[in-house]
Amino acid sequence: MQIPRLHPDTIEEVKNRADIVDVVSDYVVLKRRGKNFVGLCPFHSEKTPSFTVNPTKQTYYCFGCQAGGNAIKFIMELDKRHFAEVVLDLAKRYQVPVKTLEPEQRQELQRQISLRDQLYEVLASAAQFYQHALRQNLGQKAMEYLLENRQLSTETIQKFGLGYAPPGWETLYKYLVENKHYPVQLVEKAGLIKPRKEGKGYYDVFRDRLMIPIRDVQGRVIAFGGRTLTDEQPKYLNSPETELFSKGKTLFALDQAKDGISKLDQAVVVEGYFDVIALHAAGINNAVASLGTALSIEQVRLLLRYSDSKQLILNFDADQAGVNAAERAIGEIANLAYQGEVQLKILNLPNGKDADEYLQTHTVTDYQQLLANAPLWLNWQIEEIIKDRDLRQPTDFQIVTKEIVKLLQNIVNSDTLNYYISYCAEILSLGDSRLVPLRVENLRTQITPSSSVTFSQPHKVQSKKPKLTFFTTERSLLEQAEALLLRIFLHCPEQRQLIFEELEDRNLDFSLSHHRFLWQQSVEFSLEEIDLISKLENKLLALEEDLKLFTHVFHLNEKNKLEIIRTPQVVQATLACMEKVLREKRQRHFMELWENVDPKIEPEKERIYYENAMNEKRRIQELERQRQFSILELL
Ligand code: UTP
Ligand code: MN
Repeated sequence: MQIPRLHPDTIEEVKNRADIVDVVSDYVVLKRRGKNFVGLCPFHSEKTPSFTVNPTKQTYYCFGCQAGGNAIKFIMELDKRHFAEVVLDLAKRYQVPVKTLEPEQRQELQRQISLRDQLYEVLASAAQFYQHALRQNLGQKAMEYLLENRQLSTETIQKFGLGYAPPGWETLYKYLVENKHYPVQLVEKAGLIKPRKEGKGYYDVFRDRLMIPIRDVQGRVIAFGGRTLTDEQPKYLNSPETELFSKGKTLFALDQAKDGISKLDQAVVVEGYFDVIALHAAGINNAVASLGTALSIEQVRLLLRYSDSKQLILNFDADQAGVNAAERAIGEIANLAYQGEVQLKILNLPNGKDADEYLQTHTVTDYQQLLANAPLWLNWQIEEIIKDRDLRQPTDFQIVTKEIVKLLQNIVNSDTLNYYISYCAEILSLGDSRLVPLRVENLRTQITPSSSVTFSQPHKVQSKKPKLTFFTTERSLLEQAEALLLRIFLHCPEQRQLIFEELEDRNLDFSLSHHRFLWQQSVEFSLEEIDLISKLENKLLALEEDLKLFTHVFHLNEKNKLEIIRTPQVVQATLACMEKVLREKRQRHFMELWENVDPKIEPEKERIYYENAMNEKRRIQELERQRQFSILELL
C-alpha cells in the first residue's frame, strides 16, 4: 500500500491524544503497579508479567524481550502495520483531524483510511441485514431452528448477532450495492459476493444459511460463518480470507470471552460456533472456538494474553479419538506445552459429545466439574497410552514402555521430566513399590539425552558471564559506553549541554554507525526538548528505521537506571572510553610513522613522531584511569 506523507502536526496530535494505557489495554490485561501498569508481554511468551506501561512517559517496555516504544509503535509491531496506517487509525479513534504534506495526497489518503473502515462498515451493514432477515417471514425456519433445535433464548440470539441469509442469488448484493450504494468492489473485498463465472454480475456468497458473525477482539464484525439448514455441503461455509479476516489468527467469540478468561485466569477452547454459544448461554463465558482448524501459535498467544497462569483447556471432539486426533488439533502448540509455556489440559466429554450436545442433557455444574478435573495434556496422553492395555502381559508392557519413553523424550524442563519419570515408573510398577526404583532407572536410561538436556546447559553457563565479556572485549566496551552516553543524553536533559560540548571540544564521534545515526538525529532537536525520546521515536518510525537497534537506548532497565543515576562520573567514563579508542588509533599511527622513518636522514621527524606517540600513550593511560575509576564505581 502506498503510504501517504502525514503532516507532522497530525503525528504530534495523535501522539498527544492517544493514551498508551488505553491502546495497550485492547491487547493486554494491565494491572496497576505503583505509577505504572504491568501485564504479560504480547511480544513474547511469558508466565510472569515483565511488560510495563508507563503512563507518564506514554511508553511501554518489556524487561523480558526488550520490546519497547510508544503507542504507535506498539500497534505497528503487534499488528505488523505501517507507521502511517497506524497513525491514521489512531487519528480516527481519537478524532484528530488529518493533514498530509501535499494537498493532492488527501484524496488518496481518504481512500486508504477508509478501505479497512469501509470494510467494517459493509460487514456491519450485512450483519444487520441478516439479523433483520431472521426476524422476517422468510427467516422463520431459521428462527425455529435456533429456538427449538438449538434451544437458544432470544437474548443469546441477540447477543451473538445471529442472522439469516435469504435464499436468492442476489439479495444481499441488491441490498448493499443497489440500496446502500456501497461500491461493488468493496462488497467483494468484504468476502460477501463473488463475480459470476459466466456472464456479468455478482452473486451472494451466503444463501439460505444461518449466519454467525465473527468479530475481532474489539467486537467489530470481520467475517461470517454460515450454517446450512439443509443437508447441503459444506455444513459451515466461512468467509474467505480478506483484508480484515484471517482464519488462523481469529478465535470466535474472543470479544465476548476475554473478560471471563482474565477473571477465571483460564480459557476453554472448543471446536464449534454452537459449542461456544451454548457455553456462554449457560454462563461459561471464558469459552472461544478455533474455527474448525488446528490451533495455531498465533491463536494461542492471542488467548494467553488474557490468562496470567496460561491455562488452556481444550474441549475438542474425541469421537474417532486417539492421540493422533488430539495431536492434530493441538497442532503447533504441542511444543509450547512441552516447554511448559502453556498449561494445557484436555477435556473429552463422555460418549464423544461436543459441548453443545452435552449441555442439552446435562447441567452447567456437570460441565464445570469435568472442566475442573480435566487432566493435563501429558497425563491425558499417558492415559491414552495405557488405555486398553494389560501391563501384566509382556507384549503390552513393552509397547506401553516404548510409547511412554517416546512421550517423555519431548519434555524440555528437567524437573518436569523427573516428575513424569517417577509418575510413569509407578504406573509401570503396578502397585509394587519395590519395583519403582528399577522402573525409574529403566526409563531414565531409555530416554536418550535429547536436545532438551544439551539445550538448557549452555544457557546456564552463559547467564553468569556477561559481566566478564563486557569488560574483556574492547569493542563491546566501546559499544556499551556509547549506548550509555546516548541513554544519558536522551534521559537526562540537564546533561545534554555538557555532553554536546565535550564531544565537540574533544573532537569525538560515535564509532558505531547506528549510534552515530541516532546522535545526528537527536541533535536536530533542541537540547532542552523534554519530550525528546518520543519525538525521536516518531521521527525514526516515519523514516521506517528499525527501532530494535535503539530500544536499549530509549528504555531503561534496572541496571541502566542505576547507571544513569550517577551521571557525572558515568559521562566522564564513557567519554574517556570513546576518547581512548580515538587516541589508540593515533598512537598506532605515530608508531608506524616512527618505525618507518630513517633517523639518519630525518632525525627531527623521528623525535616528533616518537614524542607524539608517547603523548598519546600517556593520555591513554590517564583515560584508562578515569574510565576504570568511574566504571568500578558502577559495579
Ligand atoms: P463440526 O462438524 O464438529 O460441527 O464442526 P458442530 O460445530 O458440532 O456443528 P453443529 O453442532 O452440527 O452445528 C466444528 C466447527 O468446524 C468448522 C465450524 O467452525 C464448526 O463450528 N467447520 C465445520 C467448518 O468451518 N466447515 C464445515 O464444513 C464444518
Ligand atoms: Mn455440534
